[in-house]
Amino acid sequence: MARNTLNSGNQQAEELPKAKINKESIRNISELLKYLKPYRLKFAFGILFLFLSSLTGLAFPSLLGAMIDAAQGKQKLSFIPADIHTIGWICFTILFLQSFVSFFRIRFFVEVAEKALSDIRRDTYFRLITLPMNFFANRRVGELNSRISADLSQIQDTLTTTLAEMFRQIVLLFGGVTLLFVVSHKLTLLNLAILPVLVISAVIFGRFIRKVSRQAQDQLAESNTVVQETLQGIANVKAFVNEAYEAGRYEKNLKKVVNIALKGASYRGAFASFIIFCLFGAIVGVIWYGSVLVAQGELSVGSLTTFILYAIFVGAAMGSFPELYANVQKAVGASERVLEILHEENEAISITEKENAVQNKIFGNLSFHQVSFNYPSRPDMPVLHEVNFEAKAGQRVAIVGPSGAGKSTLASLILRFYDPQSGEIRFDGNASATYSLTDIRHQVAIVPQDVLLFGGSILENIAYGRLNATQEEIIQAAKRANAHEFISSFPEGYETLVGERGVKLSGGQRQRIAIARALLKDPAILILDEATSSLDSESERLVQEALEELMKNRTSIIIAHRLSTIREADRIVVLEKGKIVESGTHEELVKNEEGLYRYLSSLQFES
Ligand SMILES: Nc1ncnc2c1ncn2[C@@H]1O[C@H](COP(=O)(O)OP(=O)(O)OP(=O)(O)O)[C@@H](O)[C@H]1O
Ligand SMILES: [Mg+2]
Repeated sequence: MARNTLNSGNQQAEELPKAKINKESIRNISELLKYLKPYRLKFAFGILFLFLSSLTGLAFPSLLGAMIDAAQGKQKLSFIPADIHTIGWICFTILFLQSFVSFFRIRFFVEVAEKALSDIRRDTYFRLITLPMNFFANRRVGELNSRISADLSQIQDTLTTTLAEMFRQIVLLFGGVTLLFVVSHKLTLLNLAILPVLVISAVIFGRFIRKVSRQAQDQLAESNTVVQETLQGIANVKAFVNEAYEAGRYEKNLKKVVNIALKGASYRGAFASFIIFCLFGAIVGVIWYGSVLVAQGELSVGSLTTFILYAIFVGAAMGSFPELYANVQKAVGASERVLEILHEENEAISITEKENAVQNKIFGNLSFHQVSFNYPSRPDMPVLHEVNFEAKAGQRVAIVGPSGAGKSTLASLILRFYDPQSGEIRFDGNASATYSLTDIRHQVAIVPQDVLLFGGSILENIAYGRLNATQEEIIQAAKRANAHEFISSFPEGYETLVGERGVKLSGGQRQRIAIARALLKDPAILILDEATSSLDSESERLVQEALEELMKNRTSIIIAHRLSTIREADRIVVLEKGKIVESGTHEELVKNEEGLYRYLSSLQFES
């Protein structure tokens, strides 16, 4: 389920933070550039075409100016013909060439970026899912998800659009300024005196406005959080009759959004007036002085036109840089966050599909020797303390104890989600560290406390236990897990979709699917982490039967909350605050008047 709720959507709209661009970050990015390598030929062609299309763009103002001059019977530039129609046709030819080149430029850039990005996505995702459990303890799933979605999209945008645009604007800027000088150096000097002042003030003002609009966005995101939380917990809201409270909370947030937006609007209005004044002021200035030059015969009308068009190119290029630069900064930040994942040490595990064969067989003897453990995220809180116990092949050992005693933690240690700080876990007398993670996890199955079903069909969910299982094997496992009957009662049977977009299964049904999964895996060692939520007695019987079937002929570690289910266990280990306080069979333990087990079972017996 968690898998489907990851993408809350508003991450996309959020502005990604920018990063400083320095030597360090450039070195970082160049590491990601190796993903472009396989496609470098296409990339080079893309750049070439981009260069050509920018250059051809620069030809138009000169041609159009020459056309106007030709209309007046003048010829300003000697290499351009003086006939209107010839110039017209040249324009169309260049236009055609430019369209042709532009098509391939876009096509190539997008292809390179899409393919390289899909490679990066694949590697990041694989790295992510092979990271040790501890990595996930310190991070929110939403944040990790946004690295794969938002951060990589930003990099992709930058590769496909920003870089190309930047390159083009640089060509236009330098080409444009050069040509301006060629047309009229006097006008150019005037122009260059005005433009930078304009552009710089626009940039500073623009940055300020963006800050305000980001505040508005943050506030909006916060109000969206209210909506999201409320909808996720709608049952709670209703049960506590807190609809009015939530509506009030939302409204308060919305008011803040409006206030910030209005503040932003005032600044933006002022900015727009300022820009319009300056922009048209500059145009008036250039044409004014230009007309003076025309009147004095220093400049032709066509050249003035050419000049104005180039000036527009140059101004637009200057104006576009801040935005482009900001995009690059965001992409740098995004790359750093993605690289952070790619640089994490993953679990020493080889998870290619072909290497599923077990190298080192486990027969089912399991023992804990002086195992002490605390979660790496909370080093000051010991969870298990010098735990010793043994389960011989085929035995059933039950672990009982109050909530928070460390039972589920003990199960994670068997699967080597974490390694103990001291002590050792052994399989068949060998330290578990001598087995590969893959071997351990192929031969130890867990039916977890809360069963997670992926969004997919029931068939796929059971097959998760062993991906190459045939349909018959899956149905067989479902039958043995007492799940076949309820599955067949659905109109679509095994193809019924479950999870977020499909039917919701009851707790008992989910558990039986998990049991079928484990049966399919046919492990040497089985860990049952009994659900804390209780089932009705019919459901309970079906689950219990399925479990009996599952426990046959294998070592079973049963973490039990209902003590009635473990009377038959070969040994019961009682865990309290991470220490084993008692162990023995049911008969032995109930004899101990002072014992925790007797106390716990008397509680359940009474109720
Ligand atoms: N990922 C984790 N990071 C840090 N501390 C954790 C983590 N998981 C569990 N703990 C802490 O370790 C202790 C033992 O938790 P554990 O889940 O093993 O208890 P439990 O015996 O399974 O309880 P329950 O019967 O309620 O399932 C608890 O105090 C818990 O807060
Ligand atoms: Mg638990």
